[in-house]
Order: sequence, then structure tokens, then C-alpha cells
Amino acid sequence: MTALRQVDADVRYAVRLPEPDDFDFWRDRARALVQCGVAPERISWLEPHGAGELFAHGDEPLPVPDARSRPVRASRRFIEVARNAALHSDPQRFALLYRLLWRLQSNPAIMDDKADSDVRRVEDLAKAVRRDSHKMHAFVRFRRIEGDTAGGERYVAWFEPDHHILRANASFFVRRFAGMAWSILTPRGSLHWDGETLEEGPPAQRSDAPAGDPMEELWRSYYASIFNPARLKVGAMLKEMPRKYWKNMPETALIPGLVAGAQQRERTMVAEGAMEFEARPGSLKGVDEAIHACHRCPIGSLDNRAVMGEGPKGAALMIVGEQPGDQEDEAGKPFVGPAGQLLDRHLEKAGIDRGRTYVTNAVKHFKFEPRGKRRLHKSPSAKEIDTCRWWLESERELVRPKLILAMGGSAARGLLGKSVSISKARGEPIALEDGSELWITAHPSYLLRLDGAAREEQARLFDADLAAVKERLSELAA
Ligand code: URA
Repeated sequence: MTALRQVDADVRYAVRLPEPDDFDFWRDRARALVQCGVAPERISWLEPHGAGELFAHGDEPLPVPDARSRPVRASRRFIEVARNAALHSDPQRFALLYRLLWRLQSNPAIMDDKADSDVRRVEDLAKAVRRDSHKMHAFVRFRRIEGDTAGGERYVAWFEPDHHILRANASFFVRRFAGMAWSILTPRGSLHWDGETLEEGPPAQRSDAPAGDPMEELWRSYYASIFNPARLKVGAMLKEMPRKYWKNMPETALIPGLVAGAQQRERTMVAEGAMEFEARPGSLKGVDEAIHACHRCPIGSLDNRAVMGEGPKGAALMIVGEQPGDQEDEAGKPFVGPAGQLLDRHLEKAGIDRGRTYVTNAVKHFKFEPRGKRRLHKSPSAKEIDTCRWWLESERELVRPKLILAMGGSAARGLLGKSVSISKARGEPIALEDGSELWITAHPSYLLRLDGAAREEQARLFDADLAAVKERLSELAA
């Protein structure tokens, strides 16, 4: 810290956040304080409305960095995690973030240290926030009220988030329900959309939201019809849909009865051969339709579309990537964006005809984080890859390739069901249970992120992997 600008080491500062979720405000103040060399223990980060007041240290104006101040280092990983963690309701979150930012200046790799208690804590906060957002996407239920807007109807939902996630999730609901007039009421604030403008409002009470409407009957019968007793796992269900959300969801009134009858219904279904419900689609077209309706993981509920694999049934080679990107999502086809164009050039060099290859992804939907008008790629989690494996296996069963090339860690996991190191796994085939061979290589996006000698080296290894695949294909065809 010696090269940082030093200010009077005895002065203590209090920073009050204007809003409990104002990450950008925190980031600007935190940057300036780090640049001025203000150690974490000299700052009290205060919630907007009084909490933490006891520990405030007066109205000392914050120091301002000057032109000699060194820029602040903050890794992309830190910012990504911090943005979510800042929405947690833990009053200590901003102090924790500042301590980590401070420590990052002397140890830029700190976020990779999973044993570090600050890193663990911030990851836990971010995870809890992501989970809360996921619950909000899944469990907000609008109820219709008449006569509110000129068009006549408005939909109102009541939701109780654990964290300050309301504003961060506004764009999700605007996109999802763009054509409706709706309000989401919560004890932390409210959102109101009239089809054109989004407004924020004060906190609300449960009694401000309507209790029910005739649509609920429809929900209930829909839910009863899709409830599959063979898949019932009460523990998992409670984990995914904690009881606290039940009271806002019309369909949950049915759950106790459905659970009680589940075993009997399962016996009956098995007896009647009705387990077909879980059968794989019998054609690639069927898989295509099914993935478009898939919400088995949260990625399927983002504003995206499923992207089906492409290529002939019976192709000897299947190439598997991670997930569609922004351009693939727009086009509805795999590998058409920058990574796809790079792949095409290397395939051509290796003499592999893409037109005779089945090209697909481990995960069928584009996972992203909205950033202004852009959608930033987010890697799928191991759980999401494992969930989507069902569809990759369905494609494999139908295409029956002799050889599969998995590009990158997500693809390898999608095929093996476990994580492997690309550098260790590449170059040698792995026998799969259906008699096909799996070859593993790097993902072309990885090459795109490199430059100079590192890029050349990786391109050379990629070409070598493709050449080995081509040679093996020729052997198998002979
Ligand atoms: N990256 C992938 O993994 N798949 C695509 O389809 C495009 C980019």
C-alpha cells in the first residue's frame, strides 16, 4: 500500500449508501478511498435508513484522490461477484466488499483462493442473492385486477424477497411481461409497468395485493395435470420451492393432497405403462420441440430461445460446444458467431466437412447477464450442464455418431458427467458406454481470448486435435 496516496491515518469516515442496492455508488466511493489509502477499519458503511448508526464516525468529508493516485485494481471476477453480493441484506456486506477490494491491491489473485474466509463469505452472499432472484423469476404470480388502467386491467403480484433484488430484476419482468400492465409489490419497494414506462414505488404490504382471481383455477388444474408423482422428491421440492413462497402461489394449495396421493398414482401409472411421460423424444424434431419447452433449469427461463443441434442424423462425427452465444441465440443455430467462424476455418484446414458433421451444445439455451443493451455470456454451472445432459444424450441416441469431439470443459462434462482437465484429457480417445469414442479439445472461444504466441500455440494444439480426429474418422470409415 506504500505507493497509494496516504491521508491522515487517524481520521475515520462514514459512508451512507443512498439505496441499499446502489453498487455503483459503493464502487465509486470505494475506489476513491482505496486510492487515498484509507484502511478498511477506518470506514463505516451505513445503510440508507439508519441501520449501523451507532458506529458512525461523524461527517468527515471523504478524501479525494489526485492525479498521482494509482489506479485501483479489481478483477472481473471480483466485480461480478461483488455486484451480486452488494444486494444481500447482510449489513456488513459493503464493509466486506471494501476489505476484499483493499486486499486485492496487494494480492490480485485473491479471488482464486477458495480457502480465504472473505472470499468464501462474498461468494456465499452472491450465491444467496442469485438464488433469491431465481426464486423471484419462478414464483412471482400475477393476479388480475380490473379497471386500473385505460385498457382496463392490471396484474399485481406480491413477493417477499430475502435480499435487495427488486430493482436488479426489473428488466427480467419488463421483457417477460412487456405487453401487460403490472405491479410487483414487496416489503422492500414496488415496481409498476404500464407497457411503456417502469416506475418505482414505496414498500407495500401483503394486504395491498389482491388475494385471488378466476385465473387461479386454471393454474391449479394445469399444475395438477403436469404433476408427475414418479418424479416426486419432497426434500428437493421443498428446497426448490420453500414453503414461504407457497402462500403466494395458487397451485401450491394442491401440493399436500398431491403428495399424499403420489405413491398411489405412481403405482397406477407404472401399472398402466404411463411412465412414457418421461420417455425421450423419438426424433430430432421431437427433441427440438421439447428443448423449446424446457424449464428444467433457470437458463430456460431467461429471455432466450433453445438452439437445437444441426447436421445429418447418422453423422459419423458429433461436435459439442458449451452453449449458444448471443448470435446463435438470434439465429437459432449453433456456432454461427465468432467462435463458429473460427471453428469453420480450423475444420476446413483439417479436411473435416462441417456439412457432414452434427454440431451441437452441452447446454441448449444461452446463459447471459444483461448489461445495458448487451447480453454478456455466463458459463453454465455444473448442475445446469448435468440437467441439460438429458437432451445431449437424446441427440446422441438419435444421431449415433462414431466419434464425438467435445470442445471445452462444459462439453466434456456434458458427455462424461464429471469435470476433467482439458490439457490432461486431450489427444487420447475415451471409450463411451455406447461404443463411440470421445475426443476432447479446447473451445474455440478460448483461442479467441488469447493473442500473440499463446494464441499460436493453442491454435497449433487445436489443429493437432482436429487432425487426430480426422485420421480416426478415416480409420473407422475404412
Ligand atoms: N459457443 C458454443 O459453445 N456454442 C455455440 O453454439 C457458439 C459459441
